[in-house]
Amino acid sequence: MSTYELIDELEAGELSVEFEGEEPQVVLEFAIERFSPRLAISAAFQADDVALIDMAYKIDPSVRIFSVDTGRLPEETHQLIAQLRERYPDLNLEVLEPDAGQVERLVAKKGLDLMKDSVENRLLCCNVRKVQPLTKQLDGLDAWVTGLRRDQWATRTNIRKIEIDHDHGAIVKLNPLAEWTKREVWAYLRENDVPVHALYAKGYTSIGCAPCTRAIGPDEDDRAGRWWWESNAPKECGMHCSIEHGGFEHELKAIIGKDTLKEHA
Ligand code: ADX
Ligand code: SF4
Repeated sequence: MSTYELIDELEAGELSVEFEGEEPQVVLEFAIERFSPRLAISAAFQADDVALIDMAYKIDPSVRIFSVDTGRLPEETHQLIAQLRERYPDLNLEVLEPDAGQVERLVAKKGLDLMKDSVENRLLCCNVRKVQPLTKQLDGLDAWVTGLRRDQWATRTNIRKIEIDHDHGAIVKLNPLAEWTKREVWAYLRENDVPVHALYAKGYTSIGCAPCTRAIGPDEDDRAGRWWWESNAPKECGMHCSIEHGGFEHELKAIIGKDTLKEHA
């Protein structure tokens, strides 16, 4: 536990009421002031994430940012990372990778494109490649910042700008963009001339790993291009909610080793 003062459920509730109606920068300023350097922004380099990076960099260029490179990201994501490093020369970005042994066991057992075989396999892949590295990173932090917005998906309509993250050791989770609409995010990006992911110009609206993301059609929901072949499954990877789907936990234990399996995995 750090020497920094953490927030309890009561204060988080009070602050989330206080932050309602405030601009994202107000939440970021509070977070940086209160928790840095045991605070980091999590980024997948979607529109929301680059908006947050631009805002946070203008407040404090040394603010910590991390991203999990699952090993299956589209080339355009790597290109955007390079662009951002040029645009923000002091960018304090850490790119994390999944455990190589776990990935090797996963692929040996299930194949590289296991996610297309079943929801269990998809969750298994997301857990090994994304959730495990995230969990490890959050173990060393008191607070993390996400680009989550309420209008992204049904499971996100109730998020608050500041929460206690009970899935990750009760650290603080901040969602400064919770209240913003997609339109507001894009207006910010244009006004501030922030580099954006090249796949948006190709009809993508939500971007994750290459095999699990596609462009959407004219009448489709913005998240329809994520794991599009699945029906009746959460369009979530397990980073932002614990996923109970009896079936993949057993396999997961075999792949990552029982002792290291976190309760929420
Ligand atoms: S996911 O659960 O479907 O993958 P989504 O792509 O909507 O999440 O991203 C929501 C937020 O989760 C991002 O704004 C970012 O804060 C965080 N996030 C998602 N993927 C990653 C990643 N690979 N590395 C770090 N943070 C991520
Ligand atoms: Fe694996 Fe797809 Fe999840 Fe990426 S989004 S970790 S490739 S299942």
